[in-house]
Amino acid sequence: MEWQLPIRMASDRIRESSPHTKSGTANDCSSFTNNTGDFPCQEFNSSMRVLITEEQIRQRVIELGARLSHEYQGRPLTILGVLTGSVVLLADLIRATNVPLRVALISASSYGGTRTSPGELSVNSSLVPDLSGRHVVILDDIFDTGKTMVGLLDAVQQFGPASIKSAVLLWKTERTCVDLVPDFFGFQIPDEFVVGYGLDYNDEFRHLPYVGIPDPDDLHMANGG
Ligand code: IMP
Ligand code: MG
Repeated sequence: MEWQLPIRMASDRIRESSPHTKSGTANDCSSFTNNTGDFPCQEFNSSMRVLITEEQIRQRVIELGARLSHEYQGRPLTILGVLTGSVVLLADLIRATNVPLRVALISASSYGGTRTSPGELSVNSSLVPDLSGRHVVILDDIFDTGKTMVGLLDAVQQFGPASIKSAVLLWKTERTCVDLVPDFFGFQIPDEFVVGYGLDYNDEFRHLPYVGIPDPDDLHMANGG
């Protein structure tokens, strides 16, 4: 399975002042465009549908680890996990790499939105260590509209790293509304609200080993039943 070639990378934002567009060099891969036909649907407590299985995630994380190891060989790498959604991916991904690296954390949350649609972004970089001279990969669970990643890139740039790239497990391509795409991603998914493998609804479901689409009963349960 090939990785998507970056259309516009986070590092481009640092090097260039002129905006690129999203059109261009997209290579299709890992695209989950039909979540009811191509994938077997398993049952959760109610009828949570499994979009991406545990095994599919495992395989893909191994590929991502190999890709990062190749790309950052001989360069000081810091993987900057975005709290809280990236923690499961972060733990698996760093063990799928074989180059020296440091791990750091940053927090991003949005206010004023609903549980399934984000509001205004707030970035807390108080946990971020010195990044000067280091190559940083910002690691988040999902690239939805892309506004969070844009905000994170701007925040991390203040720390003077040698380069910044972005990596996410999931990319909701139809929803992207910024002039940026992730440098590395695991799976392109359709415009569905998903949970599991770090992704939450109301802070629930992060522990699920797969990525699933909750149904109204699941959401009701996560709201306290
Ligand atoms: P963006 O700023 O629209 O890209 O949204 C990014 C953030 O929204 C992610 O870091 C998630 O916390 C959250 N988010 C977006 N889509 C989903 C989803 O389908 N399930 C759970 N969280 C999501
Ligand atoms: Mg998040």
